[in-house]
Amino acid sequence: MYYFDNGATSFPKAPGVAAAVADYIEHVGVNVGRGFYSEALGAAGVMLDCREKLQRLFNAPEGFETIFTMNITESINVILKGYLKAGDHVIVSSLEHNAVMRPLVSLERRGVTFTRAPFDAEGALEVEALSGLIQPNTKLIMVTHASNVCGTLNDLNRIGELAEAHGIPLVVDAAQTAGVMPIDLQKNKAKAICFTGHKSLLGPQGIGGFVIDKAFAAMVEPLIEGGTGSRSDSEAQPAMLPDKFESGTQNLPGIYGLNTALDYVNDVGIEAIHAKELQLTEQFMNGVRDMEGVRLVGRHGTENRTAVVSIDFELHDNADIAYLLDSEYDIKTRVGMHCAPSAHKALGTFPQGTVRFSFSYFNTEEEIDYLLESLRKILA
Ligand SMILES: Cc1ncc(COP(=O)(O)O)c(C=O)c1O
Repeated sequence: MYYFDNGATSFPKAPGVAAAVADYIEHVGVNVGRGFYSEALGAAGVMLDCREKLQRLFNAPEGFETIFTMNITESINVILKGYLKAGDHVIVSSLEHNAVMRPLVSLERRGVTFTRAPFDAEGALEVEALSGLIQPNTKLIMVTHASNVCGTLNDLNRIGELAEAHGIPLVVDAAQTAGVMPIDLQKNKAKAICFTGHKSLLGPQGIGGFVIDKAFAAMVEPLIEGGTGSRSDSEAQPAMLPDKFESGTQNLPGIYGLNTALDYVNDVGIEAIHAKELQLTEQFMNGVRDMEGVRLVGRHGTENRTAVVSIDFELHDNADIAYLLDSEYDIKTRVGMHCAPSAHKALGTFPQGTVRFSFSYFNTEEEIDYLLESLRKILA
């Protein structure tokens, strides 16, 4: 198959990921934080190694800790629901995924309010407008680093500077950028970066997390409480990190896989991965630009974007195009809302949605040629 749905989940995974998952299941198998035999300490070492790699990947300053979750949806839920209280106000971008919007809409019923920041023609948050949205009760700015609909990047460093100047914590949804764009916590001043392991980090499904400032984490209540293997004499949830947010047996096969994926991302280098993905994105955008009835949504150039391209086929039903690509040409794309109705409203593609093409480091120029040729035949 020709797989261009890496924005949903990357495929293939980094070399060695499947073997690392199998290695844990077949040869390690033990839990961590419970028994103190050497195998358990070995597995705990891999977990710690993975935490530290993530902190280095995001250039976390001293005083940050990595927390593992199932995926970024859980990470965002933990932070939003554990931190916000009735009467609090939040500012979000207009490109947010439902991983942010649904918890916020649910929190609205408990007295939390939110404002969507204005955006420019390409969907990016207008940083100049942010100050005007801040209210005395604004407790959080939550933004996606890149849109999962059109690939447009938000300027995290400028948003973070402004958030810090107003003493408001910034939390970032890095689902679409972790592993493919540089993210620097020392520059963007975010209090937490949420990630998911199965997209550009090239790891398995079921493992994600967040890297969080310990002082900020002290203000976040855990969503799940239970056994952590630590302070077992007490029935109260431990306050120390990562235990506060990691109750129950963790996804060790996922952590072994993610740890290996991080080695691959570090060996190849984020810049090389991003450069290759952008080259494929440019080849694709140049190829579709002149096709009749093709409306490229969001940013048209390769500046400040990821390898996610959305098209509204104005002369067709977008669902038909995606169906024909799959059924006639074995090409996998995603059609519809991409779990981000807010972004489609901002980009003018609600309710028809778009066909989304999202490329990975493992796609090739030949595959893009085949995709373009197939599209030409369908549109002819
Ligand atoms: C911007 C963004 N946020 C959140 C998510 C949710 O990711 P996950 O399903 O891994 O929790 C996605 C994935 O679709 C996304 O693109």
